[in-house]
Parts: sequence; C-alpha cells; structure tokens
Amino acid sequence: MLSSNYMAALTELCQEIVNCRDCELAKYRSKVVPGEGSEEADLLFIGEAPGWHEDQQGRPFVGPAGQFLEQLLASIGLRREEVYIANVIKCRPPQNRDPLPSEVEACRKWLDRQIELIHPRMIVTLGRYSLARYFPNESIGKIHGKERKSGDVIYYPMYHPAAALHQGSLRRLIEADMLRIPQVLARCEEIAEAAAGSQQLSLF
Ligand code: URA
Repeated sequence: MLSSNYMAALTELCQEIVNCRDCELAKYRSKVVPGEGSEEADLLFIGEAPGWHEDQQGRPFVGPAGQFLEQLLASIGLRREEVYIANVIKCRPPQNRDPLPSEVEACRKWLDRQIELIHPRMIVTLGRYSLARYFPNESIGKIHGKERKSGDVIYYPMYHPAAALHQGSLRRLIEADMLRIPQVLARCEEIAEAAAGSQQLSLF
C-alpha cells in the first residue's frame, strides 16, 4: 500500500503535466493527456501520443485503439483502472503528425517522473516511440512478446493496438503477447523469491 503522500505526488505531477507549455504542441492541443490508472499498478502501458479522441477528453486510449486495449486487458482479467496507461508524448501533434525530436525530448521528463512514482514491475511498450525509448534500434517484428529485465523492472515490447486492430495476423500476435504477461510476471516473482531465499540461507 502506498502512502497518501505518494499518491498526492502523482496527482500533483499530473497537474504539472496539464499546465506544461514546454513545447509548441501546447499551442495546438485541446487537452493535455497526462495518463491515468492505479498509482499502485504493477503494469505500466506506454503508448505513443494522444489522438483526436484523447485530445478531446484528456484521457489516454479512449478511441478505437483504447477499446481494443481494454479487450486485451480483459483477456488477462484486468480492467484499465488496475494498470497505469500513459504516453511518451502528452499532447496531440496537429493532424496526428509525428512529434519532432525536440518535442519528444521536452516531454521525456514527465514519463520519467511518472515511472519513478508508480514504480511498476513491468513496462509494456506500445508502438514506435516507447519501443525506441527502451529498445533503441530494435525492430518490433523481431522482439515483440520477449521480455527483458533491467534492475527490478521487466520491459515488454508489444505491437501498438491501433496497428493490430484491423490486421488479422498482427491481431493474433498482440493477443498472444498479452496472454503471456501474467506468466512473465509470475516467473519473475519466483526468480526474485528464490534469490531472496538463497540470500537468507547464506545468512545462517
Ligand atoms: N494511441 C496512443 O498511442 N495513445 C493514445 O492515448 C491513443 C492512441
């Protein structure tokens, strides 16, 4: 259970994000989309940038890709309120153009601070920008659904739900990758417990 100070810190951070004017995207947005979900989430999903629906509502993944993401979460028994959902870019680029490198850089600090506060056990990347952040120079076709552990966090690349929505073959891949998440988490827990057990043993 997190302390109320911790929770207040995440709420305050989202407020700071909502007030951000650190790049040109502030001129074009309707609403900032800081992210939402459980502050105690084990799982953090990181998408690319808000689209039209998200920009209107100020909430991540609320359009068709979001509905598909909710179905994928339901397939592993989770509701969106039980995970945390955020984006690399917090404001919609006009006409959904690719964000400029300077815009990605200006936004970097917000996700870094969210991760510090949520401290998820697993970070799932959805799409190009979050893939580039954690798996630079790698191709999603080769590494999707393959976990990598660094420190105490598991990084897990998946196709973007929008890409998989209307493409049968990708859809089956993203569904299968989502179904692996509970077992990846459980296995990492077993390994951590075994490691803690062996440390304890060595104490005696
Ligand atoms: N696509 C994203 O990457 N993020 C959203 O919030 C919505 C669609």
